[in-house]
Amino acid sequence: MADPSGGHTGNEGAGAAGAHVDPASARAAVSRGRFLTGVTLGLGGILGAAITVPAIGFALGPSFVGEEWYWADLGSVDLYNEEYTPVIFERGPGGHLDRRVAFIRRDGPDAFTAISNTCMHLGCPVVTRGGAFACPCHGGQYDSEGRRTLGPPVRPLNRFEFKIEGGNLLLGRVFAAEERGDEVITSKVWKDPGQQVEGLLSFLYPTPPR
Ligand code: FES
Repeated sequence: MADPSGGHTGNEGAGAAGAHVDPASARAAVSRGRFLTGVTLGLGGILGAAITVPAIGFALGPSFVGEEWYWADLGSVDLYNEEYTPVIFERGPGGHLDRRVAFIRRDGPDAFTAISNTCMHLGCPVVTRGGAFACPCHGGQYDSEGRRTLGPPVRPLNRFEFKIEGGNLLLGRVFAAEERGDEVITSKVWKDPGQQVEGLLSFLYPTPPR
């Protein structure tokens, strides 16, 4: 039957492709629901990405950025002996302030041990005590080679690489130290305090290039 207003009946409209949909009909409600679900998911995804992408970049970024460094000249090798000597020096080009503390021991004519003062628990500065090392923050203790003997530190104290040039001792980058049997050696990786160098847990921490 023709609509008195000149339009179509509900049955006629439902049978035509792309026909007008009554906003109050079930089909329209489903379409609105889908649309709103899509918008909600889309906005949720954008907000989630806005929060997580910078956080992930902040966490992993340093893993892909090399360190700026240079050899620091610590003077004549004859300044050092078999006792640890604490040395404060600056690293970084162009006068850039990057203060480091090393405990340096001369083990032979061209052999040195250069241990960093950063505790391998949470990074407090350790001090020498009777030829060994102690951390004042949480009681971490290390032996004369920087091996942990007590308390919460997870690994030996870091060590600096060194070289001798013109009779002077030069320190370079600092690396994580590893225990190999009775020996402690300077590894080729850098890790922050609290991070394992060996074992399964070491895979949890990305290693920045050096
Ligand atoms: S920071 Fe050294 S023991 Fe905690």
